[in-house]
Amino acid sequence: MRSKVTIVGAGNTGATMAQILASRGYADVMLIDIVEGLPQGKALDIAEGAPWVGFSSSVSGTNDWADTAGSDVVVVTSGVARRPGMTREDLLGTNAGIVRSVVAQAVEHSPDAVLIIFANPMDAMCHVALETSGLPVARVIGQGGMLDSTRYRTFIAMELGVSVRDVSAWVLGGHTEATMVPIVSTATVGGVPLTALMAQDRIEAVVDRTMKGGAEIVGLLKTGSAFTAPAAATIEMVDAILRDERRILPCCTLLDGQWGIENAYVGAPVLLGAGGILEVYEPPLDASEVAAIQAAGEAVLELVAATPAG
Ligand code: 2OP
Repeated sequence: MRSKVTIVGAGNTGATMAQILASRGYADVMLIDIVEGLPQGKALDIAEGAPWVGFSSSVSGTNDWADTAGSDVVVVTSGVARRPGMTREDLLGTNAGIVRSVVAQAVEHSPDAVLIIFANPMDAMCHVALETSGLPVARVIGQGGMLDSTRYRTFIAMELGVSVRDVSAWVLGGHTEATMVPIVSTATVGGVPLTALMAQDRIEAVVDRTMKGGAEIVGLLKTGSAFTAPAAATIEMVDAILRDERRILPCCTLLDGQWGIENAYVGAPVLLGAGGILEVYEPPLDASEVAAIQAAGEAVLELVAATPAG
C-alpha cells in the first residue's frame, strides 16, 4: 500500500509540493483547502499530467477533513504569506490562529501522522503546532533550515561556478532574517572547506544574500512569496521520513540542551527517518555561530511569548 500525505493549503506552495511529491510515485496525495474547488482543481490538473510525467499514485483535492484520514505525513502550508515590506514575524497572530485550527483537525483525523510545519513565522508556528497537537516532539518538525540551506547551497555554487550537488552547507538557527545562521565553519564543496575556496568578503556576501533570500523573492514577485524551492525542500523531508532514508538534514526541532538551548524550536542537524526525528546533533561550530544559534533560541521564545493565546 502506498503512503498517504495530506498537504494543507492549495496555494502555490501546497500545489507545487503536491506536484513534486506525486511525481515521485510512492505516496498518494490529498490536497485540502477551505476554498471550494481550489484543491480539487489543482489536484485534477496534476493528476492529468500523470500519463506524461509517469506516475501511478493518486492526487485528490478536498474541502473535507474526513478525506485526510489516515495520513502518514501532514504538511501545513496554510496561513498568509508575506508581501513586500513585511517580515515573517508580522504574520504571527494571523497564522497562529490558522495553524491551531488546522493542526487540531489534522491530528483528529490522522493521529499517527508526522506534521511538517511551513507557515511563518515557522519556528514559532512549530511551538503552536506542538502544543495544539499533543504529539511527541519527533513528529512535529519545521522545514525552515531545509529551505534556507537550499538557497545557501545554490548561492555558493553560483559564486564558485560549480555543481550544487557538491556543496555541503547548512543554515541552522531560526527562519527569520535576523536569526538565520548560515554555517561557514563546516561548509565544504567536494570536501574542500568553503573558506579555502572563497574570499572572506564573498563568503559574507553569500551569507547576507542567504539571510535575505526569502525577501529577495518577495521583492521580485511583488504579490507573494517563494514556493518552488520551499516545496522541493519540504518534499525532501517527506521522502526521508516515508522512505526511512535516515538522512541528516537541517530541520527545526525542539532543542533539549543542544548548545545550551532548552525548549525552543531551532534549526539543527537531525536524523530523519521513519516516524520523524530520530536524533538531534550538536556539531562543533565557531563560537560566533554558537552565539548566533543561541540568540535564535532566545528570539523564538520571545515570539512564543508574544503569540496570542488560542
Ligand atoms: C521563504 O523564506 C516562504 O519563508 C519562506 O521564502
